[in-house]
Amino acid sequence: MTVASPWLIPEHVGTGRLRAHAVDHDDRLNLNGRWDFQLLPTPESPIGAEWTTLTVPGAWTMQGIGDTPIYTNVTMPFDGPPPRVPPANPTGVYRRSFELPAQWASHRVVLNVGAAESTLLVSVNGHRIGTSSGSRLAAEFDLTGALRPGPNELILTVVKWSAASYLEDQDQWWHGGITRDVYLYATGDTYIADLTAVADYDADTAGGSLELTVQVDGRLDPGHRIEVRVAGTTVGAEVPVRQARELPSAAGLPPELDDVDLFGLHSATIAGQPMAPGLRPLADALLARLFPGPAGLVTVRAELPDVRPWTAETPVRYEVVVNLRGPDDTIIETVTQRVGFRRVAISDGNLLVNGQRIWIHGVNRHEFHPRTGRTLTRADLERELAVLKRHNINAIRTAHYPPQPEFLDLTDEYGFYVFDEADIECHDYAATLCGDARYLPAFVDRAARMVLRDKNHPSVIAWSLGNESGYGPNHDAAAGWIRSADPTRPLHYEGAIARDWHAGHSATDIVCPMYPTPEALRIYARHPHTRRPLIMSEYQHAMGNSNGSLDAYWEAIRSEPYLQGGFIWELWDHGLDPDGDGRYRYGGDFGEAVHDGEFCIDGLLFPDGTPHPAMREVRHIFGPLSVTDTTDLLDGRLTLRNERTFADLGDLAVTVAVATEAGTGPERTVAMPALAPGEKGVVELPTATSADLIGAGTVALHLYVRTATDTVWAAAGTELDVRQVVVRPQQTSYPAAPSANPVLDLDDVGLLRHPLLTTPPKLCVWRAPTDNDLSRFVRGRLLRTGLDTVTRTCDQVARTDTTATIAARYLTAGGAEIGHTQRITLLDDGVLRFDELVTVPEKIAELPRVGIELQLTPGFERVIWFGDGPHENYPDRRAAALLGRWDAAVDEMPVPYLRPQENGGRGSVSWLCLRGAHQVALAFDQPMQISVGRNTIEDLRSHRHVWELPHRETTVVHCDIAHRGLGSASVGPDVLPEFRVGPGIFAWRWHLALGQEALS
Ligand code: GAL
Ligand code: MG
Repeated sequence: MTVASPWLIPEHVGTGRLRAHAVDHDDRLNLNGRWDFQLLPTPESPIGAEWTTLTVPGAWTMQGIGDTPIYTNVTMPFDGPPPRVPPANPTGVYRRSFELPAQWASHRVVLNVGAAESTLLVSVNGHRIGTSSGSRLAAEFDLTGALRPGPNELILTVVKWSAASYLEDQDQWWHGGITRDVYLYATGDTYIADLTAVADYDADTAGGSLELTVQVDGRLDPGHRIEVRVAGTTVGAEVPVRQARELPSAAGLPPELDDVDLFGLHSATIAGQPMAPGLRPLADALLARLFPGPAGLVTVRAELPDVRPWTAETPVRYEVVVNLRGPDDTIIETVTQRVGFRRVAISDGNLLVNGQRIWIHGVNRHEFHPRTGRTLTRADLERELAVLKRHNINAIRTAHYPPQPEFLDLTDEYGFYVFDEADIECHDYAATLCGDARYLPAFVDRAARMVLRDKNHPSVIAWSLGNESGYGPNHDAAAGWIRSADPTRPLHYEGAIARDWHAGHSATDIVCPMYPTPEALRIYARHPHTRRPLIMSEYQHAMGNSNGSLDAYWEAIRSEPYLQGGFIWELWDHGLDPDGDGRYRYGGDFGEAVHDGEFCIDGLLFPDGTPHPAMREVRHIFGPLSVTDTTDLLDGRLTLRNERTFADLGDLAVTVAVATEAGTGPERTVAMPALAPGEKGVVELPTATSADLIGAGTVALHLYVRTATDTVWAAAGTELDVRQVVVRPQQTSYPAAPSANPVLDLDDVGLLRHPLLTTPPKLCVWRAPTDNDLSRFVRGRLLRTGLDTVTRTCDQVARTDTTATIAARYLTAGGAEIGHTQRITLLDDGVLRFDELVTVPEKIAELPRVGIELQLTPGFERVIWFGDGPHENYPDRRAAALLGRWDAAVDEMPVPYLRPQENGGRGSVSWLCLRGAHQVALAFDQPMQISVGRNTIEDLRSHRHVWELPHRETTVVHCDIAHRGLGSASVGPDVLPEFRVGPGIFAWRWHLALGQEALS
């Protein structure tokens, strides 16, 4: 059955498609690789004679065939209204032939197309087989009748724009083509069509149970039987597939129907099957109740008193093997399913896993790859998930569609809580499509097929109805379908609570707002109507140099009821690099007519997978252990707390080291007490470390938390966090020797002259705007005063040979005047002392920084500083920064945010030295925010991509007495008030030693 022009029809979801299911059939023929391809201008265009070749899977938009990616956030890339489809509609025709394996001659053969954007039409040997819409779920078609022995020709036609595109208006790149695997599989004419494994765990009895429902389809004979083993132990043997009389759905049978005659009661046998690595054997006896159901449906229930539960911290899985036996007792088919025993529940306003309130240390994750668009290998997925585990992230929202299937196998294995999201976002038409009955089938289809595919994954703990699609009856329909089909998991849908956090109960069990302030969380937690757990669907917009005040969110979350965390927006910077030259592109770089620029560059990972410095903060705030009491530190004792929910800390190795002015001392192992989840305990520091602590020059104790054993995601010894206890907050001395033949040389406007300076020390009140600074409401405030353009006027210079007092004014483009008095003193040892006095008038309500900028001549290569490091940190993102003495190449200090902006800051700095052929040292009487790099503010401001920045040899140094925090205002709250910089008087003293011999 086919439909003419299905891409035009909003009701179309698919024709001739097989039912979605959760079974993996092993007997496969992989069809990935090079396919013949042609791109037609419209779906109606005739197929030409010219074919090129293209890689499957992989978006065609990334393979240089003429149709390029388009980035839009909310706006549809073509004119509506729905269901209008543009006449220019790139259509890819994929062709390949395959040999039908000889052993498949009498088999049923199924085609699986993992994902096609956006409407797929399938034909084989000239027969039209079927169609499908929905770009992020597999479509399966039974090809059996259309195949012939020997070579067969398969044509997959993919129409880029369809009525369904309006449901796929996620904030990401628009691509086209086949983006996931394509394969065939074969089954017998009687086959296991589906498997539903409900693996439950009861924390009160510490026992598990398995309810396994097997759907057998095809030709059913009385002799067909199912046999089930869990971890090598038979829990159901000889269960007849077909019963004489039909029964109601077996899964719903009450236990009193447990009639031995009809259902059979089997005690277990230990079969001792070999287990796959990483899976646990099950030793104890089992009881199984067997419920043969209506034709083809078999349910086996087993109590498993000794299973170990699955959690994200303890991802223990067991292997379930289902054999389908024929009347002659041969095994027709074997299906293997890994299960994890766990129970998800919402109780008293808390989301519980195995009875415990969990934390959602989550990220939103798109499928992204800079070279292929969104096609990822298993190795890519492993690398990505390993990065998350190593940063203590325990939860993923699959924003905004179901991921490729292997992803969930890995989240089961590695241990993550997954909110699996349906591929529904009609953002541009959010107000209408959720109530448009023409789109009702698609809403339900997308939700239902996700559930049918992913229901057996222990990592999936909640279903999401999609994203940014308003809230309407189509949502309630999808919610109803899921609730009835899978009562074991709660629902998540932000649209249902977008207007009122206490509303939307039929479509969401979790209050899942986007980008609230920490304060809003507290208000919710204390509100008398509050009944549901709150997990932010999105927060902490990670665009550019961002993620200020993550700690403030977690202070609120950890101290109030109902709050359980959230998902940071988002994991990836979606910078595309089709030709592999390392120049990542964003919206507009492909000549798109309509686009949203750099707004897709908003992740915690650079496009190549390197973490942004913000990931250090994430890692720290989600760390497995914390220091809760330091009162007895100088007596060599610390109180630590296990911050986990389920696991002890036995898999971790903890060491300590003392940071001093001179550097960090030796690391020594701490004997950790056994701490149950949530438990506190006192540790004794190694004697030598205690002795170091009370020694001279100690500034902090650093406590390193590392993995003690190899895991799938990290080798033993991988650092998971470093905690610190500051003993003495800062140093004021600086490690510089006197300079020779010092003079105090000023130009005629009172600026210091020195052979090592290309720009003298001047007041600086501006920073290259971060993405957050450019957000609408912040930009207004920061730019209104015209701080980006200031003119300096020198009013007076009063000087002697060794002192100078320079009074200057800085006039902003907005007409405000900042006063700056600088008193420079040449000290006996040749060092210059600066006393700065800056007056920022009330007229300037906010400014990004108050500090000194200077620029050094070429030749400085290393920087050593004493302050917060080693990674980039800012006043509202420094929880993970460590106070100490750090050493780095000047070129390593900047952070290559794809759109250039303020970056590379380090806080709490009391001195820094720049080294090369010469040495320059700066020391401060108060902790400063510094940055060291090659590019000026103007360089950063005026270039669109980091790879366009000019390469300079000079070194630009900023030392700020006040520096605005980062916030996350590109979407979300501005910098919290305590991290803003406002008017007032700023006074500080610092020393500059120019041009000594480099110290060793
Ligand atoms: C959210 C949306 C995301 C993304 C983000 C901004 O509103 O759900 O898909 O657009 O804003 O980057
Ligand atoms: Mg959106």
